[in-house]
Amino acid sequence: MEVERDQTVSSPTIPIVDLSNLDKELVARAVVKASQEWGVFQVVNHEIPKELIQSLKKVGTHFFELSSEAEKEAVATPANSKDIQGYVTNSQQDIEDKVDRVDHLFHNLPPPTSVDYRYWPKNPPEYRQVNEEYARQVKKLAEKILGWLSEGLGLDREALFNQGFGGGEKAVYTMKINYYPPCRPQANLVLGMEPHTDIHGLTLLVPNEIPGLQVFNDNQWFDVEYNPSVINILIGDPIWRMSNGKYKNVLHRTTLNTEKTRMSWVVLLKPPYDMVIEPLTKHTGDGDEAPKFKPITYGEHVERKVRDKLQKRS
Ligand code: OGA
Ligand code: NI
Repeated sequence: MEVERDQTVSSPTIPIVDLSNLDKELVARAVVKASQEWGVFQVVNHEIPKELIQSLKKVGTHFFELSSEAEKEAVATPANSKDIQGYVTNSQQDIEDKVDRVDHLFHNLPPPTSVDYRYWPKNPPEYRQVNEEYARQVKKLAEKILGWLSEGLGLDREALFNQGFGGGEKAVYTMKINYYPPCRPQANLVLGMEPHTDIHGLTLLVPNEIPGLQVFNDNQWFDVEYNPSVINILIGDPIWRMSNGKYKNVLHRTTLNTEKTRMSWVVLLKPPYDMVIEPLTKHTGDGDEAPKFKPITYGEHVERKVRDKLQKRS
């Protein structure tokens, strides 16, 4: 019997990589391929306990839903702060205001060089312990992924983390919690977050069960399916530059829901501000090709992106 053509053509979906596969070369190749073709992938069997992810979501939801305004104010980003850390609310802006319609809380994660507990919610009391444990686990995962990405460029395992992000003492890990309240009735007219590529290097994201994240590939938007077992990995601008464009900095956006609140927990890995971002491939076989990017410090890169965004809005 002939199978109808349409039935056999499955639309491409975001790559899923099973980290428990014993053939680590296969895992590495899958991570590299996904980063080249999509700039985003989902990892399963990542060894971060399900219960820990549930607790992370529980304590963060508690802060956004149960804290008083005074408690939120207590961790607000100070006016004119150069640092992104703290709580900011933008979800209730007028539709005409071209801002991302999301409330967020940023705070750096240990090591002690960058952490500042002033920006960590005091409530619930277990917030700190849960986030510290999640940070420990998610960092191991991030560094594993950077190892595979380094090897995929013909570099040593540690190259991206040490030369690109400054290594264990300097690389900055930040928690960002996004809170998107329902938007009625205009949910179809506005986005939660406008299309963007991530300023920082690597993004490790877990959402709540409300869909909304979309990624762009091959000229179309794809929904990122919710699956409680996966961690979503997105490649940001610095890795795109360090890889001389080999790994994609995926364009993504979020939609709003008319009924339900969407939340996401994002760990971002970024280089220190004075770190020079440039193709690391220049001394490898791959690096025979001319560098596509001029060296730029991470701080300059951030300033440029922020300036471009403000200009678009005006
Ligand atoms: C971001 C982002 C997506 C999401 O915070 O940069 O893209 O799902 N978040 O909230
Ligand atoms: Ni993003």
